[in-house]
This record gives sequence, C-alpha cells and structure tokens, in this order.
Amino acid sequence: MLSVAILAAGKGTRMESSLPKVLHKISGKSLLQRVIDSCIELNPEQIFVITGHKSDEVQESITDNKKIKFVVQDPQSGTGHAIQVLCKAVKKNEGKLLVLNGDVPLIKPETLNKLLNSHDSKNADVSLITTKKKNPYGYGRVFLKEDFIERIVEEKDCNDLERENPLINAGVYCFNWGKLSEIINTLQSNNNQKEIYLTDTVSLLKNSLSLEIKDNGELQGINNRIQLSECEESIQNSIKEKHMLNGVTFINKASSSISEEAEIGKDVIIEANTHIRGNTKINSHCIIGPNTFIENSNVGFHCEISNSTVYDSQIIDHIKIGPYSHIRPNSKISSFSKIGNFVEIKNSQLDEESKVNHLSYIGDSIIGRSTNIGAGTITANFDGQKKHQTKIGKNSSIGANTVFVAPINLGESVTTGAGSVITKDSKDNSLAISRTKQVNIENWGGKKS
Ligand code: UD1
Ligand code: CA
Repeated sequence: MLSVAILAAGKGTRMESSLPKVLHKISGKSLLQRVIDSCIELNPEQIFVITGHKSDEVQESITDNKKIKFVVQDPQSGTGHAIQVLCKAVKKNEGKLLVLNGDVPLIKPETLNKLLNSHDSKNADVSLITTKKKNPYGYGRVFLKEDFIERIVEEKDCNDLERENPLINAGVYCFNWGKLSEIINTLQSNNNQKEIYLTDTVSLLKNSLSLEIKDNGELQGINNRIQLSECEESIQNSIKEKHMLNGVTFINKASSSISEEAEIGKDVIIEANTHIRGNTKINSHCIIGPNTFIENSNVGFHCEISNSTVYDSQIIDHIKIGPYSHIRPNSKISSFSKIGNFVEIKNSQLDEESKVNHLSYIGDSIIGRSTNIGAGTITANFDGQKKHQTKIGKNSSIGANTVFVAPINLGESVTTGAGSVITKDSKDNSLAISRTKQVNIENWGGKKS
C-alpha cells in the first residue's frame, strides 16, 4: 500500500511574502498543486497534505480530489514534527509512506517511481533521493557510510568541512511507515534551528539508502524568489523546446511564455514578448505577436495577431487582429474578418468577412457577414443597470462615429450616416441617419487674418 505525505505547513520566511510559499506559482500552477499532480500519477491509496501556516488558504487552493486528506500541524516545529503529527493523526501507519517537500515542484512521476522501485527491491527502511550539486548551499548534506546513509546535516548545522560535501538531500523520501512510526517520536530538536528535523530519521533507521540521480534541475527546492524564477525559466525552456521540435518558431524565446496546456500548430511564429496562457490552442500558420497576450482561447489557421490581448474567445481562420486591440471573453470572430487598431470587442459574435478596423467598442453584439463597422463606432450597451444587445444584419455599412443605443436591431444591408446616434430599429436596405443638418452661416467673422 502506498500513501503520500506532502509537507506544506511552513511559512516560507525567505520568500518575504504574505502568500504561503507553496501557493506561489510557476507557469500558472502553485508549487503545491504541482507536487500533488506528480503524486497522483503514482495512483496512491491516500495523499495527506500537511498544512499549518494559513492553513485555510492552502487547503482552499487545491483542486478537488477524493484522495486528498488534510492534516493540520500547529505550531510548525519542523519537518520531523510534521510527520509526528501525521503519524498520530492516522490510525494505521503501514505500507510505504512517500514524503515530499511541498516546495520541490518539478519532481517527475518517473523519478518518484524509480525511488519506489529501488526502495522495494532493497527492502529499505527509508530511501531518499540525493544528487550532487555544484552549489549545494541551503540543502541538507548527505553523508554515506559504505552503502548506507549515516546522517544528514543541515546547512545551518554544517561545519566548514561538512559544507564542502556536494551530495544533497532533495527532500523526497520513501519510508517503511511501520518502521518510521517506531522511531518518529524519538526525534530531538537539539540543532541550530531548534526544529525537529525529518532528516534525522536516517540515523535512527537501520537500512537508510540513497538513490542518487543526476542534477537535471528537477530537484530544485524553492526557498526564495531567485529559486522561484529559476524554476519558472527551467519549465519554460522545456515547454518551448517541445514546441520548437514540433515546428514552432520563437523570434525571441526568452521574452515569451507558454502555458503547459497550450497547443501550437506547425509553422506558427511566436514573435517577441508574447504570452500564451491557460487552455489555448493556436492552429498552424499563424503569426502571433509581438507583444500579445492570449488566454483560454482558440485561434484558427492563418491568423495574425499583433500587439493585442485575447481572453476566452474564439478566433476562427484567416483573421487579422491588431495592433492594439482587446478581445474580451465570450467573443467569436469568424473567418476572414479583420479587427484593426484600438478596438475592444466583448461577448460578441462577428460573422465571416466582417471588419472593425479602427477605434471601436463592440459589446454584446451580433454582427452579420461582410458588414463594415466604421471608425469610432460604439455600441452603448449599458443603461446604468443592465446590458443590452446590438444586432446588425449582413452586408451593412456603418458610418464612422455611429453610436448604437442598445437594445437595437438593424436589418441586412443597412447603412448608417456618419456621426449618427441610432436609437430605433431599422429594416433591411434602409439608411438610418440621425444628426442635425449642417448650417453654414455666412460672414460669421471668426479669426481675422
Ligand atoms: C529541507 C531539508 C533539507 C533538504 C531540503 C530540500 C529538513 C530539516 N531539511 O530543508 O535537508 O535538503 O529540504 O529542498 O527537512 N514544513 C512543514 N512544517 C514545518 C516546517 C516545514 O510542513 O514545521 C514544510 C515546508 O512548508 C516546506 C517543506 O516542509 O514545504 C520543507 O521545509 P523548508 O523549511 O523549506 O526546508 P529546507 O530548509 O529547504
Ligand atoms: Ca525548502
């Protein structure tokens, strides 16, 4: 039987943050959620998350999973204390207990599996992952005696000689839970931090084994924002490499970020400073960016989006957007349409070949096929209390600076006069115009030259 315990009770003092450390995010997902997601792949019987500092906030952040049980550690007297609290809270301390620090977010399920297999095959009391680091600063140093781990010494407890040891404890352990529970309450806090260290269990258990793996960045622990940014960079590099090998070009790779869930088709060019977030799909032959942000949206084939922002929307094929436009949630822009400069679109549907080229706000609207919306057109959709819809039929020609006071319904092939405020519905093929006639008063004077 496999149980998992994730240590997530600490404050994360070195983050200098009001947010608990494990809730800081890399590539859109919290450190803790990442560790949980890796563990779920192992299909354990149960996952215990040990919370303490801002416990409610940490518990609420976790996406629901029936296997997760929370155990509260209060006060937080160290990693060993966290496991003491767990052993007391759980009736049956049996089978394997995989313990992970909640601040080691890049750990892969394959690596965890390796640890479990090695633990089983050697019938260990505890097996833990170690690696040799060029700069081991901050980690517990692991000292071996023949094949066994003799002791782990924390950075703060090391003497100068011990500090030279590059072999570090990654904070990922597999215990024989029965054996662990026999010694867990004998741990002491006679160290420089006055904490109960989980790492001291290796000296109390007999068969303590190290599984050394190559330092590939996966074992990076996060204690401060420098390490947080290193992990972000490392995860981004691997995401972008995957896309490049699949046929995506990055013009300035370092300046862009891509979510793990994003799908990008072949021959897409990602220009500088472009950010693809959440569940977004970009189909092939698009040019995205520079300076573009797209979240939870679908972009069809052969689209060009520059200097623009798109949220929760559908952009179908052969569409140009930007520069400087904002497509807000629940919009659908159909094929061969064009959204030009400084245009805001919200909760609207534009049929094929429609054009909104300059300085417009289109909200809660349905725009028919091949309709041209003139520069500066505004849908006045809000009456102070409710939002209302604007409908414009196909093949219409909306004059510059038209204001539609919604709710309003225009037929097909309608023309509006430039500068009109449209408050009444109009039928197919009509001209809607509402403005005072120009009067020229002669000999008015004006500026004398
Ligand atoms: C720990 C290890 C160190 C290892 C490193 C790997 C100990 C004593 N040291 O050090 O050997 O090299 O991780 O990254 O374990 N936590 C609790 N309750 C507490 C204290 C901490 O749940 O009372 C949680 C924290 O939220 C964190 C994890 O345990 O997720 C590790 O704690 P942290 O203080 O970051 O330990 P390190 O100093 O990094
Ligand atoms: Ca840590």
